Amino acid sequence: MSASELSTVRVAVIGAGLMGREVASAFGRWFALLDSDVRPELVGVCDVNPEAIKWFRAIPGVRYFETDPAQLLRHADIDVVYVAVPHHLHENLYLDVLRSGKDLFAEKPFGIDLPSARRVRDEAARLGRFVRISSEFPFLPGALRALNYAREGRLGRPIEARCAFLHSSDLDPNKPINWKRQSRFCGEAGVMNDLGMHVAHLPLRLGWKPDHVFATLQRVYTQRPDGKGGMTSSDTWDNATVRATATIQGESVPLCLEMKRLAPGETNTWIFELLGTDGGVRFSTKEPKTFWTFQRGSDQLWLRTDLGFGTPFKTITGGIFEPGFPDILQQMWAAFFAERKGTLGSRVGCATPDEAVAQHELWAAALKSVAERRCITIAEVSS
Ligand SMILES: NC(=O)c1ccc[n+]([C@@H]2O[C@H](COP(=O)([O-])OP(=O)(O)OC[C@H]3O[C@@H](n4cnc5c(N)ncnc54)[C@H](O)[C@@H]3O)[C@@H](O)[C@H]2O)c1
Repeated sequence: MSASELSTVRVAVIGAGLMGREVASAFGRWFALLDSDVRPELVGVCDVNPEAIKWFRAIPGVRYFETDPAQLLRHADIDVVYVAVPHHLHENLYLDVLRSGKDLFAEKPFGIDLPSARRVRDEAARLGRFVRISSEFPFLPGALRALNYAREGRLGRPIEARCAFLHSSDLDPNKPINWKRQSRFCGEAGVMNDLGMHVAHLPLRLGWKPDHVFATLQRVYTQRPDGKGGMTSSDTWDNATVRATATIQGESVPLCLEMKRLAPGETNTWIFELLGTDGGVRFSTKEPKTFWTFQRGSDQLWLRTDLGFGTPFKTITGGIFEPGFPDILQQMWAAFFAERKGTLGSRVGCATPDEAVAQHELWAAALKSVAERRCITIAEVSS
């Protein structure tokens, strides 16, 4: 890509925690991408905690170091703001970004609950801003293959689908509390707010919008160390199994969505499975190089394909090498910029505000299902 074809996008980050730093890292090695026609420049950072900002002082090009988001948003030479803060702050900060005239790369779950997500989506539409939501797993080569397989109609009659995102560090009862384990910061949906966009993104992108839901939600540890020698309430849902019925290829089939913080042995396992009478597909980050497809002939076969670096945007990295979290995060951002510029083409795009609202509908239905011990139609929560 010649320098003249590249357009520069000036980005600022609000929330210099875990994810805020990952974005700085993705931009810092942008030169690895061969076919992105955008060059992002990280120009500003904002965090209420001045300690969190310090790390960004070593990054070339960053010129705004703010502790007040309103101050950051006053700078006219910022095009896009990435906001990565606790969930209870999403709505107000997202609205502030949109009303300051800038585009938004939002973190999931896109507002603390369904009404909040709707308000942000509607304001973005009213103002005509470009908004996408962070969900990086579809940019893994195995996930992309699964998405394409599901679109190709090689399944025969669909039987069932399962999407899961599994963590395990909460198995340790001595892990101190943080905002993600407290409903007032994480949201009433708990683990579904935290991990749900990751499991819902591909089903929603494939048009498998569920029509009803029955959920099982668990609180396993209700107290955690407060980090000051005492214990405090940990009141979020830890594990969620959401059994939905969705229409796949015109047939109503079970779709199981699992989000768990206590899944023994699973550090950050993202799973996509789709089974049909003639075909099927399985991909898990547990085996990041391995893509499984099912074939029914005179024998029934699960075939294993070894994957390489088949990312949507080409990079300098050799085709046989393995991608990891920082790579797919960079790919996701490349897709965000390309879609914003209108050059995404047939490549997969980031999660949209409508998809984020649709996942909140699922979690609202799941909460209602548990409260009322019954199956809930999505229509009951979406109207
Ligand atoms: N896409 C992913 O894979 C992924 C992974 C982890 C977290 N997340 C999401 O990213 C978001 C942030 O999570 P995290 O793990 O980075 O959290 P974190 O706790 O590591 O960082 C949050 C930062 O926000 C700052 N902050 C708090 N209030 C603020 C305010 N009013 N203005 C500016 N900064 C403020 C905090 O000081 C902290 O540095 C959440 O929405 C979370 O769900 C996404």
